[in-house]
Amino acid sequence: MLAVHFDKPGGPENLYIKEVPKPSPGEGEVLLKVAASALNRGDLLQRQGKYPPPPGASSILGLEASGHVSELGPGCQGHWKIGDPVMALLPGGGQAQYVTVPEGLLMNIPKGLTLHQAAAIPEVWLTAFQLLHLLGDVQAGDTVLIHAGASAVGTAAIQLTRMAGAIPLVTAGSKHKLQMAEKLGAAAGFNYKEQDFSEATLKFTKGAGVNLILDCIGGSYWEKNVNCLALDGRWILYGLMGEEDVSGPLFSKLLSKRGSLITSLLRNRDKKYKQMLVKTFTEQILPHFSKERPQPLLPVVDRVYPVSEIQAAHEYMEANRNVGKIVVDLPQ
Ligand SMILES: NC(=O)c1ccc[n+]([C@@H]2O[C@H](COP(=O)([O-])OP(=O)(O)OC[C@H]3O[C@@H](n4cnc5c(N)ncnc54)[C@H](OP(=O)(O)O)[C@@H]3O)[C@@H](O)[C@H]2O)c1
Repeated sequence: MLAVHFDKPGGPENLYIKEVPKPSPGEGEVLLKVAASALNRGDLLQRQGKYPPPPGASSILGLEASGHVSELGPGCQGHWKIGDPVMALLPGGGQAQYVTVPEGLLMNIPKGLTLHQAAAIPEVWLTAFQLLHLLGDVQAGDTVLIHAGASAVGTAAIQLTRMAGAIPLVTAGSKHKLQMAEKLGAAAGFNYKEQDFSEATLKFTKGAGVNLILDCIGGSYWEKNVNCLALDGRWILYGLMGEEDVSGPLFSKLLSKRGSLITSLLRNRDKKYKQMLVKTFTEQILPHFSKERPQPLLPVVDRVYPVSEIQAAHEYMEANRNVGKIVVDLPQ
């Protein structure tokens, strides 16, 4: 089969399409014939040699995929049959014509969505759901500050925050991105390049601060985050696109707010946790993507690249140009 490959860590120019052996499904696994995958920041980091796949995971890039069930491994419980259209959360391997998936990490594709839209759901929607509900315990009426509001995770988090009856505020680096975030439901957006988001957030909340911060930036934002965190607020760190280091009185400032700092990584969670997450998301959230709902959830797809243009797809993400997901189409 064909798969995205690189021989040594480095820039997008190292990526190429290579013929590799087709995998076989093991115990309790399904073989998925991939129609589409989507790009994640984790792919960029892995390509740079900074984010190796967890033990046992495929070294092929791709943390999610959509397609059709092609083969059932031994011991499958009968939940899926050959030909079913599905989408999957993966620890790697999605940017190939076939990938094996534990059957508990597959999801039905919501009615009315295309395979390209489905490929844009697993990694970022499960992440946003996990951050808001399982870790952040979001409550109706909470105010939630979502950094990189037009990122793929951000576009999902805005919609899920609204669905929870909470109020999403966002930061982003351009007027266009802020407008897109507001269209998806953000109550207000702040351009971090032009204004102090912390002061703007305090102004919006009349000095109270936000109950929850979803932060994929890290070091460069720490002081502003703590400044606009409400008393007893939760700050969830799930990415480090800003600086990795922190200098200054983080602990004393956080303590004065009785704030909680929680960190999260989905990829290296064990299979049992991921299966619980997929099951909970399938029951509670997936039906809300149906076009039959009055205000259906929307997987935001910025662009679709054929896998032969994988270098250009990486360059586009690296240049921070996307709003929502970059989907990669696989040859059938
Ligand atoms: N922990 C987990 O389990 C998990 C799972 C999935 C994703 N993630 C993380 O979530 C983050 C978002 O992923 P994604 O796929 O949604 O990203 P994405 O769609 O590529 O969007 C990222 C956006 O972040 C903004 N940004 C980049 N560098 C920045 C900086 N130094 N300061 C402020 N803003 C910056 C840019 O938008 P602007 O133009 O607005 O600056 C960029 O377009 C990544 O860090 C990723 O690693 C973590």
